[in-house]
Amino acid sequence: MCQPALSHQTTAVVVFNQPLTKTQFLLRLLAPEVARGAEPGHFVHLNCHPNLTLPRPFSILDADIALGTVDIFYQVVGEGSGWMSRWQPGEKITLLGPIGRGFPKPDAGRRALLIAGGIGYAPLDFYARQLKAQGIETLFLLGMESDDPPFELTPATTSIESDPIIQPLAVARQVFLGIPSRLSSLVAKPGFFQGYVTELAAEMLQALSLEKRQRTDLFVCGPTPMMKAAAEMAARFQLGGYVSLEEHMACGFGGCAGCVAPIRAKDGTWHYRRVCTDGPVFPLQDVGWDNTL
Ligand SMILES: Cc1cc2nc3c(=O)[nH]c(=O)nc-3n(C[C@H](O)[C@H](O)[C@H](O)COP(=O)(O)OP(=O)(O)OC[C@H]3O[C@@H](n4cnc5c(N)ncnc54)[C@H](O)[C@@H]3O)c2cc1C
Ligand code: FES
Repeated sequence: MCQPALSHQTTAVVVFNQPLTKTQFLLRLLAPEVARGAEPGHFVHLNCHPNLTLPRPFSILDADIALGTVDIFYQVVGEGSGWMSRWQPGEKITLLGPIGRGFPKPDAGRRALLIAGGIGYAPLDFYARQLKAQGIETLFLLGMESDDPPFELTPATTSIESDPIIQPLAVARQVFLGIPSRLSSLVAKPGFFQGYVTELAAEMLQALSLEKRQRTDLFVCGPTPMMKAAAEMAARFQLGGYVSLEEHMACGFGGCAGCVAPIRAKDGTWHYRRVCTDGPVFPLQDVGWDNTL
């Protein structure tokens, strides 16, 4: 497992807070200390408004050490994210970050299958760029139900073995970076696989040679039912991998045990672990998905 991030309580400045859809935003913060320590899978705990007692956790979508900036891709779902959507360039906010243990660096020769659902895109986009820089063969699958995609889509330019999609579309920012990706939706849409993103992943794994399949690790983030389905699929294909969990959080630094999830230890025993500082990334097969010990 990765070492936990060294977190800082810091003041950040809003560089921009761009609406991507009616409910989704791309936030860029000037926070050099956070950018320096950020790894894929780390998150920040943002103080959204002085009236709110608890900060809110958000994954790091990207970090630029040279510019000192950190990007967040967020969805407005309630009070805290509602306040965030009103932040203006130049505004100062406080945050704790980067927090947690991120995704591990795979060994050379491994292949990575990234499976994201909705807003779970954020930590895996950051990870895909790290994998690309490491020369790891990567395929990014994104389940996207919204009719109003947050990121521009464009025809995919990379061919994939036994592609189940005719004239596939892909996320433009990934095409630009040379990261192969495919999209799924439950509703029939040109350029998309129709079905769950885990069904798309299963079709693609089935089409691989045994040798390539055995070299493949899964990396997953999205709604809990999707992550559970991905863990079941990994077990069926006898594959390993990692998942980034979401739990309601309070302190964000390991002090309150408000964010625990049942995780299996190396000796096979189950223990509640803190998602904020022991995770949020855990081995896919070690998560107790029914949430009890
Ligand atoms: C490690 C981690 C990474 C995350 N990354 C992202 C991201 O990149 N983009 C994004 O849009 N969202 C992300 N979330 C979810 C995000 O934290 C919640 O949507 C947000 O806290 C909702 O706050 P709210 O005040 O707007 O909503 P409310 O529903 O009013 O929140 C009330 C309380 O519930 C908590 N809460 C509500 N939903 C969640 C949730 N899904 N997970 C954890 N706590 C929740 C809030 O922190 C708050 O304490 C992440 C969550 C975790 C744990
Ligand atoms: S949020 Fe307090 S221990 Fe994780």
